[in-house]
Amino acid sequence: MLSHLNKYLKKTIITIFVSLIPLTVFSEEKNTNLIETKWTFNGIFGTFDRSSLQRGYQVYTEVCSGCHSVQYLSYRNLSEKGGPEFSIAETKAIASQFEVEDGPNNEGEMFMRSAKLSDKFTKPYPNVEASTAANGGAYPPDMSVLAKARAGGADYIYSLLLGYEEAPAGFELDDGVYYNKYISGNKIKMSEPLFDGIVEYTDGTDSSKKQLAKDVTAFLVWASEPHLESQHRIGFKTIVYLIVLIMLVYMSKQKVWSRFNSKPEEEDEEIFDKVEKVITKYEGEDTKTFK
Ligand code: HEC
Repeated sequence: MLSHLNKYLKKTIITIFVSLIPLTVFSEEKNTNLIETKWTFNGIFGTFDRSSLQRGYQVYTEVCSGCHSVQYLSYRNLSEKGGPEFSIAETKAIASQFEVEDGPNNEGEMFMRSAKLSDKFTKPYPNVEASTAANGGAYPPDMSVLAKARAGGADYIYSLLLGYEEAPAGFELDDGVYYNKYISGNKIKMSEPLFDGIVEYTDGTDSSKKQLAKDVTAFLVWASEPHLESQHRIGFKTIVYLIVLIMLVYMSKQKVWSRFNSKPEEEDEEIFDKVEKVITKYEGEDTKTFK
């Protein structure tokens, strides 16, 4: 039994390992031109780095939120497990810095009040038309699902933020259009948003352009997948559960079928010999000459 189990375990482990290879190697459409970074949130055990998410929130608020909304995030999400995990008090303080429209009041009028945990993130512009008009005809996309919507995800956003360069000689650029190595066509209507030290991190981390880009990218990945960590946990538990289940099914199959398989042929022959001997005794004759 044990040797069977060992053999089976080995087989199972090899099968699982082999079936996971395509997941890790081929799952993402690789754009070899992007800057590849070892993100903490990749892989089945991936988790976010809390302080990076908190800094990323700061970069988003101080820089990107001037043009980009994240319409699906509420302030309470900032305190939830698996996210930046600000304390409730910190999150309330963050929300109270923003003004949202509420109402109508008793006189039927709308009024402004400071945001609460249950409010959605405030938007820089009331609608797509207003944001497009304010940005020279280009719409700054909502960032709720941006990290998922673009091929390359985190690597793409990170590369894009660091991909601003002088346009090569002869490359035509209109006013308000900038050269970026990583956007298709190399033309983008967003001026370079990040520079060394543009944000002064409250936790004292050196705010180099790379660090800013890394933190805000992590924040945007979390914004588009707020439940990533719990999904990874559930996925892992499911795999363990399936392995145990497969082993149990295999062991019960062995047990049920052992009655049919375990008696080798020699044993059958032994029984046959015994019966023959009994008959010979009765007949008083040698089995070989018995007719
Ligand atoms: C001054 C306004 C402004 C600011 C500030 C700004 N953006 Fe943008 N962003 C835009 C506009 C406009 C576009 C659309 C560009 C286009 O379509 O050519 C854009 C597009 C993008 C895109 C999408 C590119 C694509 O593939 O379509 C990303 C990613 C992005 N911005 C990230 C950021 C991040 C991160 C920040 C903050 C660090 C930021 N932006 C700050 C205006 C802004």
